[in-house]
Amino acid sequence: MTTKIAVLVSGRGSNLQSVIDNIESGYIRDAEIKVVISDVGDAYALERARKHGIPAVFTDPLSFENKPAFELEILKTLKEHNIDLILLAGYMRIVGKEIISAYPNRIINIHPALLPAFKGLHAQQQAFKYGVKVSGCTVHFVDEGMDTGPIIIQKCVPVLEDDTADTLAARILEQEHKIFPEAVKLFAEGKLKVEGRIVVHT
Ligand code: GAR
Repeated sequence: MTTKIAVLVSGRGSNLQSVIDNIESGYIRDAEIKVVISDVGDAYALERARKHGIPAVFTDPLSFENKPAFELEILKTLKEHNIDLILLAGYMRIVGKEIISAYPNRIINIHPALLPAFKGLHAQQQAFKYGVKVSGCTVHFVDEGMDTGPIIIQKCVPVLEDDTADTLAARILEQEHKIFPEAVKLFAEGKLKVEGRIVVHT
């Protein structure tokens, strides 16, 4: 059965693009992106979606009274498209319980550090400033904490002598574009089983 995907974005959307490309190439099978939703009106990710004929929706958080009301509107869009899987691809908000309880273990996030280190914003800069010798990226299921959910895939990226925060971030991004589609492929093939905190690849 085809996995119907919604992608939530806030910015340039390169991780969205990697999923689109890997569906189009056939690497990810039996999955379709039904809608891309952004909380930022001029996010380039919306443009990328439109270029591929995918419905692109801007939901403005400022036009709702509070976060639950904003999330109920997003839920409405998700329900309209019969969504099975939500991807957070550079979505810069913490997803609240309205959405999480409706999609347990069916929301996947990409984070640009080796969790549980360097949660939250600007993780690549946080890692660089801390002086770690290895960083990387993590794909994980989303729970009610911030960047705390069960880990699906991680990839290490060494910090080089002449790195800046930007060059490190660019090399991490290259790996994000590999492990994010890989996780989507595994999910769509029914190969991810969550046992407590542990994700088993079956
Ligand atoms: C990516 O590096 C992603 O890991 C990060 O934002 C960037 C979005 O880039 N996400 C977070 O920091 C979430 N806390 P993109 O819009 O080009 O995919």
